[in-house]
Order: sequence, then C-alpha cells, then structure tokens
Amino acid sequence: MSVGKRVGIVGAGNVGATVAYSLVMLGACHEVILRDNKIDVARGKALDMSQAASAVRSHTVVKVAEEMSDLINCDVVVITAGSPRLPGMSRDDLLMINAKITKEVIQGVAKYSPDAIIIMVSNPLDAMTYVALKESGFDRSRVIGMAGILDSSRMAAFIQEKLGYGGGQIRASVMGGHGDDMVPLPRYSTVAGVPLSDVLTDAEIDEIVERTRKGGAEIVGHLKTGSAYYAPAKSTAIMVNAILKDTKQIYPCAVLLEGEYGFSDVVSGVPVMIGANGAEKILEVTLNTQEKEMFKNSCESVQGLIDTLKNNNFFDGE
Ligand code: 2OP
Repeated sequence: MSVGKRVGIVGAGNVGATVAYSLVMLGACHEVILRDNKIDVARGKALDMSQAASAVRSHTVVKVAEEMSDLINCDVVVITAGSPRLPGMSRDDLLMINAKITKEVIQGVAKYSPDAIIIMVSNPLDAMTYVALKESGFDRSRVIGMAGILDSSRMAAFIQEKLGYGGGQIRASVMGGHGDDMVPLPRYSTVAGVPLSDVLTDAEIDEIVERTRKGGAEIVGHLKTGSAYYAPAKSTAIMVNAILKDTKQIYPCAVLLEGEYGFSDVVSGVPVMIGANGAEKILEVTLNTQEKEMFKNSCESVQGLIDTLKNNNFFDGE
C-alpha cells in the first residue's frame, strides 16, 4: 500500500499553525502533525483545522504529536519553535535561547524522521539553519531556511503599492541573510517582464529597498505583541509544496554555501531549485560590485552570529 506524504510542524504558534492551515487548504499532503509544548493548544488547533479541512473537502488530516517520537517518518519537517525577543534581551541572548531550542528539536527530528527534509523558520533564521545542519548531520540539500520567498514577496507588494498596478505580475528578487542587511536586487526585479528602472525612479526604488529590509519590523510595530505570520507561513507552505510535488522551481532560500558566491561554511539566501530531494541546485546570479559588497556584508553578519555560538562552545562535544 502506498503511504501518503506526512509533514511535521514543530511549534503550533501563529506561524506554525498558519503553515498547517495553508497545507490543509492546498491538500498538499496526506497528514500534518503538529508538535508544541503547549499540547492543548496544538490539540485545539488540530481539531479546528480538521474541521476546516472537512469544510473544503480537503483530504489532509491534522494530528497532534503528543511526544517528539510521534513525529515519525515525516517527509518534511517545518521548525517554527523559538522564543520571541523579550524586554532587556540582547540579540545574542535570543540567539543562544533559540539555538538551544533548535538543537533539542533537531536531535528529535533526526532521530524520528531521519529521511526528512527540514525547513527552518525560527529566527535568527540563517544562524538557526546552520544549527539545524550541524545538529542533524543531514546533507545541506535537506536543511533549508525560509526567508527569501517572504522578503521578495514583501518587496513585490511594496512595488505594487508604489505603482498602483501590476499585482501578481511582479517578480522581486532578494538575496542574503534574513536581517537588516538583506540584499534586495532591483536589477533582477520586473513588472510583467519590464525592468523596475523603467517604471520607477531611483529614489522610489531606494525607498522600496529600505522598506523591504525593515519589512518584518514594520509589522511588529503595528502588532506590538508579535510578528508577521501570514506571509511567513504562506512562503513556507510554498516550499513544502514544491518539495512534495517535486516542482523543481527556483525560489530564494537560505542554504549552506560551499564555495558559491565565494563563501563557505555560512548560510545565506540564494536562488535554489527546490524538488523532492530538497535544495537540489544553487544558482549563481551575476552580481555587480555594489551587490557583491552588500552580499558580503550580509554573509559577515550571519558569520558573526555563528561565531558567537562557536565562542560560547555551543557546538562542542559533537
Ligand atoms: C519577519 O520577517 C519575524 O522574521 C519574521 O516577519
């Protein structure tokens, strides 16, 4: 008997639950399994989503993993677990807290779903993707960070807002880490194939680039008690769907670089072909001098976080 596809989601907060909901609405897989320390929250959301599945005649079943060991033989596991930044915390404090959570979760994933493809969503995204790689021992093709689809979708939405037309026809491109020094690429962004520079002034493009870099903070500023989840979750569901359907489409994703773009042993966002085997191919886009400099800065920021983990002996004993 053939077995349907199973997707595990660790963390049933706003992002994790919305990823699950998107997959249910898409009918992307046979089973979604939610895992959260707040088990009753996971139970409630799973029930609610199962009923939504019935409403739209989706075949996707939503279950709860009472223990990590219930997250067994998943084809894809999405990791959204992590702590939000609390008052008085430094960026490095958040880094260490989420790195510890990621370490524990990934050890469970590697044990119970050893053939899974891992999609990291927890922040700081690129550093957490690096932790997941090291802790799982998986090939780099099977540990992929979500951020580029989100950041380029934000840029496309800002372009549409500025133009007042072109919705659904805008292709925006963002590379680099998921931080303030991400690398929006107007040169590789188009509206129905028309270069951005033909429809917007340099000042307008600069404004869009800056707003894209701060896109997450803009939403936190409005919500006050949390961060964005619709676009992050939808972006993640697109990646899950591409893996399960083996679409071999190109998306900007965070992967470990091994010489690409002149960098090694650091995670950064680059165009990746996504298929049944995960990140099947990394595309090397030609960057001009200024773009190369921005990409270097972004990689160095991520490297700084990884170095903080190393200096705190985080990876020792492995
Ligand atoms: C965002 O950019 C919080 O990383 C998340 O919205």
